[in-house]
Amino acid sequence: MSLRPVPPRCDETPAWAALAGHYQAHGRGFDLREAFARDPQRFESLSVEAGSIFADLSKNWLDAATLRCLLDLADQCGIQQRRQSLMNGEVLNTTEGRAALHTALRAPRGQGPFSAEVHAVLDAMLEFVEGVRQAGRIRHVVNIGIGGSDLGPQMAVPALQAFTHPDLTLHFISNVDAHDITHLLRRLSPHDTLFVVASKTFTTQETMANAHAAKAWFKAQGGRDIGAHFVATTTNVAAAADFGIRTTFGFWDWVGGRYSLWSAIGLPIALAIGAQHFRDLLAGAHAMDQHFAHTPLKRNLPILLGLLDIWYRNFHHLSSRNVAPYYQGLGRLPAYLQQLEMESNGKSVNLRGEPLEFATSPVIWGEPGTNGQHAYFQMLHQGTDVIPVEFILVKTPFHDLVESHAKLLANGLAQAQALMLGKNTDEARKETPPTASPNIDPVTLAHHRTFRGNRPSTTLVLDALTPHSLGQLLALYEHRVFVSGAIWGINSFDQWGVELGKAMCSKLLPRFQTGEMTGLDASTAGLLRRLISE
Ligand code: F6P
Repeated sequence: MSLRPVPPRCDETPAWAALAGHYQAHGRGFDLREAFARDPQRFESLSVEAGSIFADLSKNWLDAATLRCLLDLADQCGIQQRRQSLMNGEVLNTTEGRAALHTALRAPRGQGPFSAEVHAVLDAMLEFVEGVRQAGRIRHVVNIGIGGSDLGPQMAVPALQAFTHPDLTLHFISNVDAHDITHLLRRLSPHDTLFVVASKTFTTQETMANAHAAKAWFKAQGGRDIGAHFVATTTNVAAAADFGIRTTFGFWDWVGGRYSLWSAIGLPIALAIGAQHFRDLLAGAHAMDQHFAHTPLKRNLPILLGLLDIWYRNFHHLSSRNVAPYYQGLGRLPAYLQQLEMESNGKSVNLRGEPLEFATSPVIWGEPGTNGQHAYFQMLHQGTDVIPVEFILVKTPFHDLVESHAKLLANGLAQAQALMLGKNTDEARKETPPTASPNIDPVTLAHHRTFRGNRPSTTLVLDALTPHSLGQLLALYEHRVFVSGAIWGINSFDQWGVELGKAMCSKLLPRFQTGEMTGLDASTAGLLRRLISE
């Protein structure tokens, strides 16, 4: 593994200056409705297929000229070399001296770096999985982990519900708030429960607290064989053994937490969907890796989405992106993507350690459709901020309520359409208001009922949500986050921002016993006093 030279600063490239000029001349005033009227081929030219994912980018504030400038930026920032460095396992995570080789975890046997090690663990893990599924003694699996050791499996298991074992129920415990684990344990019994203690480091406060609580409960309920009911997924095999765990599936420091569901951290997913489907998930991700690695930039979906993110964040100054999966099984996808994107790209210095003079990660947030429509879509349609929305539509469901599914898809399509087309005040005036009030004149009412429209969205369409297509979708997001991070010249693979709060918590915790206030700021002291008062 070698260190790569630091890439050029994106904001010093000619393409960045060209984009700033293009924004002033065409970008600020871009109107989607006019763009469609001007170019009848807009949908065809701005939609891309990557494996089984169809992406419609045509409802975004861009055209061929914008794309040319963005592709120049990618080129001038050395995106091809950065991508090659990622795939080769070069040390991109310079502050921790590590590669970021999640792509190696899903490469077919015999391909990619560390293939022998990766497939040895995968084979052992999947053999264990099939053993548990076939023996039928375990009915409940409790994954204890947090962040990357929780969010991937917690998101993927319900997403793939149609493929899950009917007699195995998966539970996910993450928060140090014992509200969660105590409530769950009341409903379980030790003889048919398997605990997976998932932690890359096996030191994380929340995970260790919950693992010890589970062990205490297990013993108190008469459980005898810890080794048979607790397994670990970790890089810290020794700590797992100290805990009393005999079965550990390992991984490596070059697997980042938020990129780890493809590793042993995916054990709960494999237990739920079985070995073959887990291999399909990996194969789907690998197919997207191939698309990312080999497709020319202008048809390369992760590249295009990453560039679009730069265009909105740095030139239009949009600070958030909404993710709207119209598929209830993807209910935890926004939370998963929050960690993936915000922990990766929420940085304010470049690889040289210099402060950045431009914005990085947007806020990622969302809920499944149609629920979000009845909560915050009001703001998306009529609020003062423009928030690009990413709709995810799945053509064929795994249930047979065809009419419900048509309603779901129609809702998703209609929201994207309404965001773009809007409704002007004249149109609003011509309508008969459903509840015309005598206290408001029709003109004023029409202003309240006006939608400015021209609000951008991207729509991703999947034929069905299978392990393979989910693998593609998640790898697409990983690479898209890589692309914006690489252009910004930041380290997308460290997370120093979570350390300070952790360290302060360690120092505060003993004060809950001692009541010692010395050295605390007045606000923290005042609050602590209140929290510990008799
Ligand atoms: O939140 C910080 C973090 O280090 C994440 O990056 C990681 O996914 C999570 O904590 C859990 O860490 P571990 O797997 O070591 O318990």
